[in-house]
Amino acid sequence: MGAVEIDDFTALLEPTGQQLLAELSGGVYVETAALSLASKLRDRYPAALVATALTQARLRSHAEAKFGSAAATMYFTAHGLEQATRRSVAEWRARRYAAAGVRRVADLCCGIGGDALAFAAAGIDVLAVDRDPVTCAVAAANVRAAGLGDRIEMQCADVTKVALEGCDAAFLDPARRGDRGRIFDPAAYSPPWGFALELAERVGELGVKVAPGIPHELVPDGAEAEWVSERGEVKEAGIYFGRLAGERRRATLLPGPWSLAARGVGDPEPAAVGRYLYEPDGAVIRARLIGELAQDLGARTIDATIAYLSSDRLVSTPFASAYEITDVLPFHVKQLRAEVARRGIGVLTVKKRGADVDPAVLRRQLRPSGPNSAVLIVTRVLGAHIALLAQPAHPSG
Ligand SMILES: C[S@@+](CC[C@H](N)C(=O)[O-])C[C@H]1O[C@@H](n2cnc3c(N)ncnc32)[C@H](O)[C@@H]1O
Repeated sequence: MGAVEIDDFTALLEPTGQQLLAELSGGVYVETAALSLASKLRDRYPAALVATALTQARLRSHAEAKFGSAAATMYFTAHGLEQATRRSVAEWRARRYAAAGVRRVADLCCGIGGDALAFAAAGIDVLAVDRDPVTCAVAAANVRAAGLGDRIEMQCADVTKVALEGCDAAFLDPARRGDRGRIFDPAAYSPPWGFALELAERVGELGVKVAPGIPHELVPDGAEAEWVSERGEVKEAGIYFGRLAGERRRATLLPGPWSLAARGVGDPEPAAVGRYLYEPDGAVIRARLIGELAQDLGARTIDATIAYLSSDRLVSTPFASAYEITDVLPFHVKQLRAEVARRGIGVLTVKKRGADVDPAVLRRQLRPSGPNSAVLIVTRVLGAHIALLAQPAHPSG
């Protein structure tokens, strides 16, 4: 990021830039209208400022998915937004730090401030550090816009060289994107996983954000690995050390929050499909808590290699979607098409696990039509491919 870009960004914070942004914030950003809007705005504002402001308006509109209505007054870079922790997840993390009694956290690799803002809003003082000058300027603008300047101190520096005196905990969110896209190997994160381990020795109370695919063997003894999902989608994993660590593994579902922690339960033995099928949340699967969930539900797996649970009793749980199975059928496209037609199923949701099937293709092949709806689950039971016709089940009371 060069000096020109930082000048462009800071110009946006000057009165003229703010006036232009305020003008843009009234409307919904529409990509196709941006060109003609830009040419009109260039009559009244410098061209470079118009370009920067329009980029900011576009980023703000994209950022709503992560930051909700707060995005309208925040600042972003494209990379910063892509890598930022969504508000709900950052708030959950901040709750964990507050519950552990943390008073001042070093937010290392703070990016545009997704986590720093949530820590500060939870009443925790923050030393926020990033080495990229534009990103630091954007984070500082976010801190001011949120009115959290008295809680967050910004430092533009390499986190591996920063003194952490006065901080009783740290949070590290290494960059996991390189020039060639996503980085999956934690040793190639910036800074690398090895730095996280050194940091854990130094500060004791530490959280590190990692990709959900982190190998379980990398989690050191005594640390906790937590997988967080929001509305059924796994968003991140975090490794926590010291007082921040609880059980060995945990799945947390937002917006709940609902947390399921490891209790050392092994995987259940597979058994025949019962009346209900449970599809565990992705965070539960990633955290390998199928045994714990099965125990809580009084359910069994339907196959040793597949993360579906089943039982004859419907138990209310936030940790899985439940379906009532109406038919267990062999997996034959022709036969299934006949069943779908016979039942007048026009709205068909196809799910699969452990079957080499493209749900969209299968759905088309089954030619759904009619007034009824159903869920078709293609899976394996005790090694054999089967298709389950089902309805979403909602426990009463
Ligand atoms: C994943 S982003 C952080 C996102 C942030 N938690 C948020 O929610 O907005 C990673 C950041 O690490 C910064 N970074 C990478 N290596 C660094 C280092 N050695 N020192 C300081 N910052 C670094 C990058 O500039 C980038 O902004």
